[in-house]
Amino acid sequence: MSEDGRLIGGAARRDDRENIALRPKRLGEMVGQDALRDNLSVIIDAAKLRNEPIDHILFYGPPGLGKTSLAHVIANEMGANIRVTAGPSIERAGDLAAILTHLKKGDILFIDEVHRLGKAVEEILYPAMEDFVLDIVIGKGPAAKTVRLNLPRFTVIGATTRLSLLAGPLRDRFGARFRLDYYSQEAMEHIITRAAQMLKIGIASEGAAEIAKRSRGTPRVGLRLLRRVRDFAQTRAQGVITLQVTQDALALMNIDELGLDEVDRRILQTIIEKFNGGPVGLETIAAATSEDSSTIMDVYEPYLIQLGFLDRTPRGRIATPRAYAHLGIPYNADTNPDNPQPRLF
Ligand SMILES: Nc1ncnc2c1ncn2[C@@H]1O[C@H](COP(=O)(O)OP(=O)(O)OP(=O)(O)O)[C@@H](O)[C@H]1O
Ligand SMILES: [Mg+2]
Repeated sequence: MSEDGRLIGGAARRDDRENIALRPKRLGEMVGQDALRDNLSVIIDAAKLRNEPIDHILFYGPPGLGKTSLAHVIANEMGANIRVTAGPSIERAGDLAAILTHLKKGDILFIDEVHRLGKAVEEILYPAMEDFVLDIVIGKGPAAKTVRLNLPRFTVIGATTRLSLLAGPLRDRFGARFRLDYYSQEAMEHIITRAAQMLKIGIASEGAAEIAKRSRGTPRVGLRLLRRVRDFAQTRAQGVITLQVTQDALALMNIDELGLDEVDRRILQTIIEKFNGGPVGLETIAAATSEDSSTIMDVYEPYLIQLGFLDRTPRGRIATPRAYAHLGIPYNADTNPDNPQPRLF
């Protein structure tokens, strides 16, 4: 399956290969996230100056904004080896112990979905990150002994889409924490144009701007749209991504002017039509739309919230008047008593 799990078969494999090729390799190739890049370059330069491994770093934010790319960029900048793993794939404490004992000085251990580490695994990780030691229990019962192994100085880079699910002690052990934000229109245009050059496809600046506009400020989404528009340009047009080609291709894909797809619209429509605009609980929305609740929460909601189409309240999700307007559904404040709108009477 491809990175975002949306495509299958040969096209997905080609996309995966291209994704890797399009990944920025150095800090200077990364577009946008200026404050983050400045901070990171100070951390990297200082570590190099002292000839030390860098501090543990945590990246968090919505999917597709560049957390994994940044981990590889840091490894490249530091000239360090990177070992890639993910929370769910480290099942037992022993799995992590095996990884840790194979690390060398300065190595980077990238743990994706770090909020999904089990309790027992986290217990091992705490002293490893803080004191670079590994406590191993040998034997069972009263005769069990703990042996302490020293580990080389290494760096953990963690990535998560859900900072709130990360255990406090684990969060605290990251010396630097960075939140990734959605990219600006300008940064997205830059990323799309650069990718088109690397994919050797002609693109007009209006075409790049249009793709950027519908990319939800997310490089992964933008690159996916670019590839689909390229397919369209090569098979249904003259091979160049113009504004018209972009608009036609995206209309075919049912992606609207704000970059919302069918699922986004179905979520909003469900809240509005079935639940009178909300508030309605996440699980209820998931059941009513047949989407996975964590996908709704991680992938769809953040952008709908950013657009001001959705509010998260303690009592559930609410569709805002803007969402009604976007979908062309009349909004009636009187029938939406829970919506926090100013009312005349
Ligand atoms: N700043 C950037 N400049 C150029 N391309 C970028 C940038 N950030 C991300 N990309 C591109 O976007 C794609 C997605 O990035 P990446 O896989 O690093 O996201 P992620 O935050 O790890 O996502 P997830 O949370 O889903 O794992 C990559 O293919 C990469 O090429
Ligand atoms: Mg990633």
